[in-house]
Amino acid sequence: MDDNIILQADHLRKDFDGLIAVEDVSLRVRAGSLHSIIGPNGAGKTTLFNLLSGIFKPTAGRVLFRGRDITPLPPHRIAHLGIGRSFQITNVFPNLTVFENTRLAAQAMGRDSLNLIAPAAYFRNYATRARDVLARVGLVDKADALASTLAHGDKRKLEIGILLASDPQVLLLDEPTAGMASEQVPQLMALIAEIRKAGDKTILLVEHNMDIVMNVSDAITVMHYGQVLAEGTPAQIAGNEQVQKAYLGELYTSG
Ligand SMILES: Nc1ncnc2c1ncn2[C@@H]1O[C@H](COP(=O)(O)OP(=O)(O)O)[C@@H](O)[C@H]1O
Ligand SMILES: [Mg+2]
Repeated sequence: MDDNIILQADHLRKDFDGLIAVEDVSLRVRAGSLHSIIGPNGAGKTTLFNLLSGIFKPTAGRVLFRGRDITPLPPHRIAHLGIGRSFQITNVFPNLTVFENTRLAAQAMGRDSLNLIAPAAYFRNYATRARDVLARVGLVDKADALASTLAHGDKRKLEIGILLASDPQVLLLDEPTAGMASEQVPQLMALIAEIRKAGDKTILLVEHNMDIVMNVSDAITVMHYGQVLAEGTPAQIAGNEQVQKAYLGELYTSG
């Protein structure tokens, strides 16, 4: 197999009481790439993320991480292997501060979290990493605020901060800009572009804003009615007639 494929979906299928949400989806995500999944509402994008992160078990098919079959593993084991997913607000402790939430994430998923003889320096490192992450997501001035008091856009930033603090190899970002005030979107996208540029992380991104997708993606997979309609570079996808007809024509309105 290709050593550069970090995450692979192999003929995945997910049925919900007669509804086929994901049907025969195969996907190969290159290590270090930013791979976007696009498609209309109900296309199966979130279900696919739930399958990749182990929240749902597929009706058929497999998920491979670095060539290893992780399909049967529970979500927390998959997270510890290095596939991180922002779980929206359920992962945030509302009565802890922004800083404490971020530090806890760093600590919980730290590579040495099971090392009982870890020196105190490790624990100081968690605080350092938390501060570094808050700077990256633009929440330094909110570090001491209770998470419950954050405005919606800041909560989204905190979710991403918590994800970054846990230092996964693969980040699954499901509509990270959803519900954000439009003036906050560029900062978040700059952060995602920066993570991509650093090259040591792989990002899977579901995003509706086609300008963003076309600008930041190395590869794009288009889903439609649970299936893969097309896959390619942004230029290939933008020029794909089938995609235009099914989807892009109405949404890709950039001049
Ligand atoms: N837990 C669930 N139970 C039943 N149906 C679901 C569930 N999750 C998603 N679906 C259905 O699966 C289809 C795909 O949904 P989803 O993966 O959320 O699409 P997308 O994220 O692309 O908008 C939709 O028809 C949706 O209603
Ligand atoms: Mg969705």
